[in-house]
Amino acid sequence: MISPQRRREIIDALRRGTVPRRGLDAFAVGTDRFAAAFDDELATAAASGAGFKAVRGEYGSGKTFVVRWLAERARTQGFATAEVQISEGETPLDHLEAVYRRLCERLTTADTAGGALRSVVDSWFFALHEDVVAAAGTALPGDAEAVLAATDALTEQRLGVVSARAPALAAVLRGYRRALADGDTARAEGLLAWLGGQPHVAASVKRAAGIRGDLDHDAALAFLAGLLTILRGAGYAGLVFVLDEVETLQRVRSDARDRALNALRQLIDEVDQGRFPSLYLVITGTPAFFDGPQGAQRLAPLAQRLHTDFTTDARFDSPRAVQLRLAGFTVEGLGEVGRRTRDLYADGAADPNRIRSACDDDYLALLAKAVTGDLGGRVGVAPRMFLKKLVGDVLDRVDQFPDFDPRRDYRLTIVDSELTAVERNARAATSVDEIDLDLQ
Ligand SMILES: Nc1ncnc2c1ncn2[C@@H]1O[C@H](COP(=O)(O)OP(=O)(O)O)[C@@H](O)[C@H]1O
Ligand SMILES: [Mg+2]
Repeated sequence: MISPQRRREIIDALRRGTVPRRGLDAFAVGTDRFAAAFDDELATAAASGAGFKAVRGEYGSGKTFVVRWLAERARTQGFATAEVQISEGETPLDHLEAVYRRLCERLTTADTAGGALRSVVDSWFFALHEDVVAAAGTALPGDAEAVLAATDALTEQRLGVVSARAPALAAVLRGYRRALADGDTARAEGLLAWLGGQPHVAASVKRAAGIRGDLDHDAALAFLAGLLTILRGAGYAGLVFVLDEVETLQRVRSDARDRALNALRQLIDEVDQGRFPSLYLVITGTPAFFDGPQGAQRLAPLAQRLHTDFTTDARFDSPRAVQLRLAGFTVEGLGEVGRRTRDLYADGAADPNRIRSACDDDYLALLAKAVTGDLGGRVGVAPRMFLKKLVGDVLDRVDQFPDFDPRRDYRLTIVDSELTAVERNARAATSVDEIDLDLQ
C-alpha cells in the first residue's frame, strides 16, 4: 500500500501534466517485462561492472516514465540516480561539463531527492575517517591534525587512477575536508559547488584549495569517474545516470550536433572499456534519433553500438538488447492507465465508492476517446493530456462536489496553451502524414 504522501505526489504531478518522480510502481502499466533484464544489468553494475541502455519510443510512449521507474527501482537496490534532460540551451550533450553539473544537482538517493552530493561526500569522508581510526588503533583519534593528514593520504589512495587523471579532484576533496575541520562553512560550500561543476566559485576559495578555473568537458568525464568512486566508498551500489530526450540534439547546428554525437559515442565507449565501474548509463530518444539522418546514423561507430534488430515481431523484443522499444499507447492501454490512476485516487479519497462509480471504466474509455479525438486521433500522443484531464478536470471535481456527474456536467475542452508543441501539431494536422513527431 502506498503512503498518502506518495499518492499525493503522483496525483499532483499528473494534474500538472508531468511524469511523477516517485511511486511509479503504483500505476505502472507494462513495465514488468523489463524488470528481470534491468535487475540483472543493475547487479552487474553493482559488482563494479557497467551497463548501457537506450530507450526508444515516439512522443508520449512512456520513455521518461520508464527511466524514472527504473531509477526508482535502482534506488531500492542501493543505487544513486540522476536524470538529466538534454537540451540545446542548458544541457547540450557537446558540453559534458554542463551535463555533469546537472547530474550533481539532480543526484538522488533513497533518502535524498535531488541535491544529494553533499550527503554522499560526507558519508564517504565518514567511512574514510572510520578506516583511518580503525587502522591507527588507539594512537590517533586524539590528534586531529594527524587524523586529517591520514585522511588526506587515504583520499588520494582511494581515488587511485581517477586522481592521476584529475588531480584537482583530490585537491578539492582535501580542501573541503579541511574547510569543515576549520569550521569555515562558506569555503566548504564553495568547494562542494566546484566539485559539482558549478561556475562562479570565488577565486579565493579555489586558491585556498589549490585549484584553478572551471571544470571543462574532459575534466567532467574524470569527475564522473571520481563521483562513482565516492558513491561506492559511501556505500552505494553505483549510479544510474539517465540522459533523457537525447533526440533534441538533432535540431542543433550541425557542428554542435556532430560534437554531441561524438560525446555520446565517447561516453558509451568508455563505459564499455570499464572506465566507469558501477555506472548504468541510460539514454532515451525517438526512433528518428536512432534511425534518421540527423541522429545516431551520422556517426557510424555510434550507430553500430546502438544497433538492435527490430525486424522480428515486437513480442519477441529482448529486454537485454541495447535498445528497448516502447510501442506507444493504444486506446486500451490508456484505459488501463486511467483505471489505475482512478483507483489510486479513490484509495485516498473520502468517498472511494463515489469516485469509482462516477468515473467508471466506461466513462474512462469515453474520456480516452475524446482526448484522442481532440488530438487528431493520435492515441500515441494522448496519454499526458488524458491523465491531466482525468485528474484535474474530472476526479478532482467528483471528489469535491457530491452532485458532479462527469457525463452530464463535463465537456472536454483542451486549449492550445496547455499543449506541448508535439500535441499542438497532432491536433492541427489534418492527416497523419503532416505530423512531425520529431519536433520535440
Ligand atoms: N507504463 C506506464 N504506466 C503508466 N503511465 C504511463 C506509462 N508510460 C507513460 N505513462 C504516462 O503517460 C504519459 C506520457 O509518458 P512520458 O513518459 O512522458 O512519454 P515520453 O517521455 O515518451 O514522451 C505520462 O503522463 C506518463 O505518466
Ligand atoms: Mg519524455
